[in-house]
Amino acid sequence: MRHVLNTALVLFLLSALPASALTTSDCFDCHSDESLTKVVGGREISLFVDQEVYGRSIHGDLDCTDCHEDLARVKDEHEEELQSVDCGSCHDDMAEAVSAGGHPAACHECHGKHDVLPREDSRSAAFDLNVPATCCACHLEHGEPDVCGQWERGMHGVVLIRSGVIFSAVCNDCHGSHDIRGAGDEGSSVARGKINDTCSSCHRGIVEIYNASIHGQVFKDSPEDAPVCTSCHSAHETERALDDVFHLTVVERCSSCHEEMGYTFSKNYHGQVTGMGYTRAAQCPDCHGAHDILPQADPASRVHPDNLVATCGQCHEGANRNFTLYMPHADYHDAEKHPMLYYVYLAMVVLLSGVFIFFGIHTLLWFIRAYLERLKETGPGR
Ligand code: HEC
Ligand code: HEC
Ligand code: HEC
Ligand code: HEC
Ligand code: HEC
Ligand code: HEC
Ligand code: HEC
Ligand code: HEC
Ligand code: HEC
Ligand code: HEC
Ligand code: HEC
Repeated sequence: MRHVLNTALVLFLLSALPASALTTSDCFDCHSDESLTKVVGGREISLFVDQEVYGRSIHGDLDCTDCHEDLARVKDEHEEELQSVDCGSCHDDMAEAVSAGGHPAACHECHGKHDVLPREDSRSAAFDLNVPATCCACHLEHGEPDVCGQWERGMHGVVLIRSGVIFSAVCNDCHGSHDIRGAGDEGSSVARGKINDTCSSCHRGIVEIYNASIHGQVFKDSPEDAPVCTSCHSAHETERALDDVFHLTVVERCSSCHEEMGYTFSKNYHGQVTGMGYTRAAQCPDCHGAHDILPQADPASRVHPDNLVATCGQCHEGANRNFTLYMPHADYHDAEKHPMLYYVYLAMVVLLSGVFIFFGIHTLLWFIRAYLERLKETGPGR
């Protein structure tokens, strides 16, 4: 009903207008009416445009028809169905970036329609502090996995929301704003080959140390084998690095690549204690470092024989060369790597089994003997 009335109104009012192109103030004649609505797909949507908000927006000096281009030549007729606005007719660089990345959001779904503000304005949807809300308007819904909740609980979220640190990482610092692509796309800022650069736009000092480490060297030739920032740290639920829980998690992450070393660690003293959930004992980074990990043969490695006294000495006061002969990765099942340990283990097993077998038989015989003796004394017939 309303629809029919509206249409009648348009035709009536248009017929009363002069036969020149509609001006912005003509548009406001009708669209500053707060009750002007239209039903689309069963839902009533407002056609009200707030003149004051529009005037204050960055596009306040534009004519309506600069965006609603199909109305530029309209003189006496205003179609019911209009073409959608192409922001790219002025911002072609942004439009190209969006279509290159293929992210499905339309410009106005992030920026708004008639209330677009410069990005430095703290009310702008593109202002750093507001970006999470802008992205999460959709990604809360599409959030499988719940990236928004994870980001909020992670260090970057906490630092931004609770501490108000504006240079913490928000969605577009890692994903970009327009050329947004999934991690599987090689050109994505969060792809495996690029994520170190993305993080180091802020954590510059760390990436320089990492590049000199064994992992950084491996990365240069084969990024797919090396751990990148997000192999050890979560992308969204970024853990506080010095947190106990993080140290326990890191053991699993290192072990996912270094399976054998993870296994032998778990079988030895520090690993056993760590396995029970205690972080006081050493985890992988306590002995190997985090971003500066090097092979044992490298003199700068924390586990190079010359450096072990200092490495173990962090926790074991007065540790000396002798103490460091203890092998954190000893594997008594491995005859090749640890022959001493293997044969001592084997000897112990043989000795222990021998002792049990010997005394087992001994006890059995003793029992039979005792039983027979008893029968003799109290046996039947007496
Ligand atoms: C005479 C009053 C009147 C004038 C002048 C007018 N409009 Fe409208 N406009 C309407 C009405 C009524 C509707 C709802 C039509 C319907 O029910 O589909 C509408 C709908 C629209 C829509 C929504 C179309 C859609 O596809 O959903 C846009 C956009 C629009 N007008 C923009 C403008 C612009 C820009 C101008 C100035 C160049 C303008 N209008 C001038 C009355 C007017
Ligand atoms: C910066 C570009 C831009 C300018 C300038 C602009 N609009 Fe729009 N307008 C949009 C976009 C984007 C939409 C969303 C639908 C679409 O894509 O066509 C829209 C939609 C509308 C709608 C439909 C209701 C709605 O909110 O979706 C009306 C009515 C409208 N505009 C009126 C106007 C009027 C009147 C003016 C001038 C005062 C104006 N517009 C100026 C971009 C613009
Ligand atoms: C997914 C949300 C999103 C979409 C979709 C989006 N933008 Fe943006 N845009 C942003 C954010 C966030 C910023 C601010 C940070 C930046 O410049 O990267 C921004 C910045 C801008 C700027 C200012 C750039 C500058 O460097 O000063 C313009 C202009 C712009 N966008 C236009 C567009 C146009 C046109 C489209 C559609 C083709 C579009 N945006 C689509 C989120 C988006
Ligand atoms: C007729 C040309 C034109 C169209 C169409 C247009 N814009 Fe703009 N836009 C401008 C101009 C001019 C500026 C101001 C540029 C400046 O100050 O650097 C601007 C500025 C912006 C800015 C702020 C940039 C900043 O400095 O932070 C954003 C965001 C933006 N436009 C988004 C959009 C969106 C979204 C659309 C479509 C809904 C759109 N524009 C359509 C001309 C246009
Ligand atoms: C510190 C960098 C960083 C920040 C900040 C960040 N992301 Fe991500 N995001 C990533 C990385 C890296 C991936 C790739 C997958 C992975 O490694 O877990 C990703 C993946 C995604 C995915 C794809 C999820 C999937 O597994 O399919 C979405 C959607 C996403 N992020 C949205 C967001 C949103 C929304 C925000 C803001 C609330 C955000 N991201 C903040 C780094 C970040
Ligand atoms: C209008 C809704 C909407 C907004 C706003 C939005 N997105 Fe998306 N985004 C989507 C949809 C829909 C998908 C596709 C989901 C899919 O393919 O499963 C998507 C996909 C993604 C992906 C994953 C791409 C892939 O292929 O795995 C990332 C990353 C992403 N968005 C980041 C962002 C960021 C960052 C922002 C804010 C700057 C943002 N999105 C704002 C709707 C939105
Ligand atoms: C091999 C695993 C690994 C990789 C790869 C890695 N980190 Fe770390 N990172 C750690 C560990 C473990 C810690 C905790 C340090 C500690 O316990 O002394 C840490 C600590 C941090 C800290 C906090 C500094 C501190 O000592 O409190 C930041 C920030 C950080 N990493 C960022 C990054 C960035 C950025 C990258 C990519 C260039 C990266 N990390 C790559 C394991 C890693
Ligand atoms: C826009 C800048 C920015 C980007 C991009 C960024 N970070 Fe951060 N990050 C920060 C800030 C600011 C903090 C909080 C200060 C702090 O605690 O060190 C932080 C904190 C951290 C912490 C916790 C440090 C601690 O003290 O416990 C880790 C770990 C971390 N970031 C890893 C990453 C990783 C991994 C990436 C890439 C996926 C990344 N960051 C991208 C700015 C950034
Ligand atoms: C994504 C897989 C991956 C993760 C996660 C990872 N590494 Fe590595 N690491 C490698 C690769 C590949 C090398 C290169 C040497 C090799 O081929 O074994 C390497 C080399 C090393 C070396 C030197 C050993 C040698 O043979 O040169 C040490 C020590 C080391 N990593 C410790 C760690 C620690 C500690 C962690 C966790 C904080 C960790 N790594 C996490 C893949 C990984
Ligand atoms: C108590 C200190 C300590 C802890 C904890 C520790 N390591 Fe080691 N790691 C060493 C020492 C010492 C060596 C060199 C002797 C050896 O190979 O057994 C070594 C050797 C290695 C090597 C081979 C290095 C090379 O150059 O050949 C890798 C890989 C490794 N560790 C990974 C790990 C991982 C993964 C963890 C955690 C699951 C871990 N380490 C925990 C002290 C430690
Ligand atoms: C992050 C701290 C830390 C580091 C680094 C560390 N340890 Fe330990 N280690 C512990 C703790 C805690 C215990 C348990 C001590 C206790 O219960 O008294 C332990 C126990 C031991 C034990 C068995 C119990 C004992 O005290 O005799 C040996 C052997 C040992 N560590 C050797 C080493 C060697 C060798 C290194 C260097 C390669 C090393 N540790 C590095 C924390 C550490």
